Amino acid sequence: MRKPFMAGNWKMNLSVEEGVSLALGIKDAVGDYDAVDVAVAPVSVVLPAVAQALKGSRIIVGAQNIHWEQKGAFTGEVSAEILASAGASMVIIGHSERRQFFGETNETVQKKLLAAHRAGLHPIVCVGEQLSERESGRTQAVVRGHVQGAFAAVDRALALKTTVAYEPVWAIGTGVTATPDQAQEVHAFIRTLLADLYDDDLAQTVRIQYGGSVKPDNVKGLMQQPDIDGALVGGASLKVDSFAAIVKFNG
Ligand code: PGA
Repeated sequence: MRKPFMAGNWKMNLSVEEGVSLALGIKDAVGDYDAVDVAVAPVSVVLPAVAQALKGSRIIVGAQNIHWEQKGAFTGEVSAEILASAGASMVIIGHSERRQFFGETNETVQKKLLAAHRAGLHPIVCVGEQLSERESGRTQAVVRGHVQGAFAAVDRALALKTTVAYEPVWAIGTGVTATPDQAQEVHAFIRTLLADLYDDDLAQTVRIQYGGSVKPDNVKGLMQQPDIDGALVGGASLKVDSFAAIVKFNG
């Protein structure tokens, strides 16, 4: 049985004050709801204050990116170890916005995945095709490349402690969600990739989130699919009511 896992990706939104206020609201609404694992990922400089605000709750605090080195002459970067020292226990890696705007590749994703595990952060690795790739029938090839690239150097024990997020790029921030069937098809495919890389047991254990315009009114249909284990939520994670409704999709 895979426990549902809902994570809010705040992206480059919310000041320290706004982030703390949202975190406290989420804590009030779902802080002791234990049917679902819940995480929020604020901007890195907001993270310590959010971690402090959520202390004593079940809500996990994560970062949105890391550098793969532990320390050194990498101006402007933040390592997994430093984020852990600031209160992070999770990190989103390989988000499509990082692939699209900041030169993230399968190779850097792989290094970052190892770095996250080195520092004891739970990684959520994002994979997913662009619209043109879907339209030209390359969804599986792209997702295969992302999954195999990310996990290439990860051993079974660490792979078990990793979450995958399937995020079709055309569904992110567009209001166009993949239908539950479209998402399920790719989630099932990702499990076959994990089974090939490791084994069936691992493929059935790793949680796979869906991301891309998840809202309170579509989350239930997605979560009814057998291979969808949670959501990575952008826009709808920025308001207490909508994020709490997603977390409590089962009523
Ligand atoms: P969205 O973002 O929910 O605003 O579509 C999802 C994501 O990018 O993780």
